[in-house]
Amino acid sequence: MIRIKTQEEIAKMKKAGEILAACHREIAGMIHPGITTLEIDEFVEGFLKRHHATPEQKGYHGYPFATCASVNDVICHGFPSKETLKDGDIVTIDMVVNLDGWLADSAWTYAVGNVSAEAKHLMDVTKQSLYVGIEQAVIGNRIGDISHAIQSFAESHGLSVVRDFIGHAIGQQMHEEPQVPHYGPPHRGPRLKEGMVITIEPMLNLGVYDLKIDADGWTARTADGEWSAQYEHTIAITQNGPLILTEQ
Ligand code: MF3
Ligand code: CO
Repeated sequence: MIRIKTQEEIAKMKKAGEILAACHREIAGMIHPGITTLEIDEFVEGFLKRHHATPEQKGYHGYPFATCASVNDVICHGFPSKETLKDGDIVTIDMVVNLDGWLADSAWTYAVGNVSAEAKHLMDVTKQSLYVGIEQAVIGNRIGDISHAIQSFAESHGLSVVRDFIGHAIGQQMHEEPQVPHYGPPHRGPRLKEGMVITIEPMLNLGVYDLKIDADGWTARTADGEWSAQYEHTIAITQNGPLILTEQ
C-alpha cells in the first residue's frame, strides 16, 4: 500500500530532513585523514540528541550503529570502525533521522584528502545521477522513469548500477511501498502522485554491479573490489515538482 502524505506530514519530514542535512554539513567539515568512522558515528549520535531527534537505523533489524560508513569497495551498510580513514579514501555516510516519529534518509560520499581522478569521476557521476533521477520525480511520471534515467546516465559514463539495494518510499516507516530501483525500463511501475515521499539513492560502481556480503551479515562489498559511491535524498512529490527534504 502506498501511503500518501499530507502537506503537514511532509513539513514534519522536512524538519527531520533539515536536521539530517545540517548533520551532513558538519560531517563534511570533519572528514580528514586520521579520523575514524566510529568517531563520526559518535558525533552523529550526539548531534541528533542535541536536536531532539533519534537515529532510526540503530536497532533496525539489529543494525548496531547510528550510521552506515562504507569505505572504498564497500557499497553500503558498512559498520563504523576504529580504523582511521586514509588520504585518498572515499567514505559514504548514510543515516535515517527520526524527529517526532517522522523520518528522513540521506547518504553522501565524501573524499578523504586528495582522491584519484577515477574516484572523483565515480563521485561526480554518482551525485549527478541522483539529480538526474530527481528530475523525473514529477506527478504523472512512473517510478520506472526515475530508474531508467539513472541507469542510462550511469552507464553512459562507464559506471554500473547496483541491483541488490534500491530506493523506497518513506514516512513513519523507513521502508514503505513502492520500491525505487535505479535501473530498468522507462514508463513502468507505479505512477507518481502528489504526497508520495520516496528516497532516490543510486549506488554506482567502477567495475561490476555484483556484490558480496561480509561475515558480519551487513557489509556489502563489490564482488571485484572496485570502488563504489552513493548519494541519497528524501524527496516529496508535489504540485511544484520534486521537493528535496534533505537538501544540504
Ligand atoms: N539508509 C538505508 C536505506 O536507504 C538503510 C540502512 S539499513 C539499516 O534504506 F538497517 F542500517 F538501517
Ligand atoms: Co534509503
